[in-house]
Amino acid sequence: MTALDLTIDAPLTAARTPRHFLDLDALPTAELRRILDFAHALKARRAAGERPPLLGGRTLAMIFEKPSTRTRVSFEVGMNELGGSALILNPQDSQLGRGETIADTARVLSRYVDAIMIRCHAHETLTELAAHAGVPVINGLTRRSHPCQLMADLMTLEEQWGPGNLAGRRIAWVGDGNNMCVTFVQAAVHFGFELAIACPAAYQPDPDAVAAALAAGARVTVGEDVGAAVAGADCVVTDTWVSMDSKDAEARQRDFPAYQVNDAVMAKAAPGAVFMHCLPAHRGEEVTDAVMDGPASVVFDEAENRLHAQKAVLAWCLGVMETK
Ligand code: CP
Ligand code: NVA
Repeated sequence: MTALDLTIDAPLTAARTPRHFLDLDALPTAELRRILDFAHALKARRAAGERPPLLGGRTLAMIFEKPSTRTRVSFEVGMNELGGSALILNPQDSQLGRGETIADTARVLSRYVDAIMIRCHAHETLTELAAHAGVPVINGLTRRSHPCQLMADLMTLEEQWGPGNLAGRRIAWVGDGNNMCVTFVQAAVHFGFELAIACPAAYQPDPDAVAAALAAGARVTVGEDVGAAVAGADCVVTDTWVSMDSKDAEARQRDFPAYQVNDAVMAKAAPGAVFMHCLPAHRGEEVTDAVMDGPASVVFDEAENRLHAQKAVLAWCLGVMETK
C-alpha cells in the first residue's frame, strides 16, 4: 500500500459546495477509486500502529432515525482515530422530534460541526439535509441506498482479489432487492464487475436503478433463479429479508425461504467464492450458521472495513486526502 501523504488537497476554508457523500451514482469513478485506495492505506498504517490525526479538532454530527451498531461505532471510532470527535443526535431527544425542519437543522448544525452523517427512513430527508447544509453530508443508510457499506464491501473484495481487480468478477446478489442491492447496482457501473441478481418477483430492485446502470454500460441481470445467479459467481452476497423499513415481515417470512444462502447454494458458486453480508444477519433465515461461520465468509472483514472506508470518506469530504 502507498504511504500516507498528508497534503491538504482542497482548502478547508474556501467557500465551495460541500463535498457530500450521498450516493455512488452521484460520484465520479475516479473519486471512488481514490477513496478506496486511501482506505487501504489507512488500514495498513493502522496495522503498523499509526493513526494520522487528519481531522484534528473537527466534529462529526450523526443523526440516527433508525438503529445501528456498525455505522454508529465505526464513525465514532473513526473520528476519534483521525483526531476529531463525533456526537449523536436522536430525533426523539432533539428538536427534530418536535418538528424543527430538516432544512433548519442542517443550517444550525453547519454552524457548529464540520460534517453530518445521517441514517434516515426517506432518501429525501438525506437530500434535503444536503441541500441546506454548509458542510459535507454523508449517507449512513436510507431506504434507498447504503453507499458507506458498499465502500467497505468493495474494499473487502479487493483484499481477496487484489486492489483494482473487481472488473471481470461475477457477484451474485440473492434475496431482497433492497437498499443494499440497489447500491451494488450503482457500484457495478463504476467497477466493471458482473452483477447477477436473484430475488422473488415481488421484491426485485428498483427497475429505474437497474435501467440507469445498464444504460451506463454495467453488466447487471435480474431474475428469480438463485442457481442461475450464483453459477460461477466469485462472491455471493445477501442481506436480511426484513429491512428496518419493511412493513410486511410476515409475508416476507413466507416469500423468502427459497432464497436462503446455505452450503448447497455456495457449492454452485465458483471455487474459492466468498460470502458477504452487511450484517446484522438473521442466522437460519437468509443465511445458515455453516455459511456465516464457514471458510468462504468474509463478513467480519466487511464489518471491520466500515471503519477504514469511512475514515477515507471523511478525509475525502473534508479535503484532507492525499492527491498523489
Ligand atoms: N451494516 C450496517 O449498516 O450495520 P448497522 O445497522 O449496525 O449500522
Ligand atoms: N437492508 C438493511 C440493511 C441494514 C444495514 C436495512 O435497511 O435494514
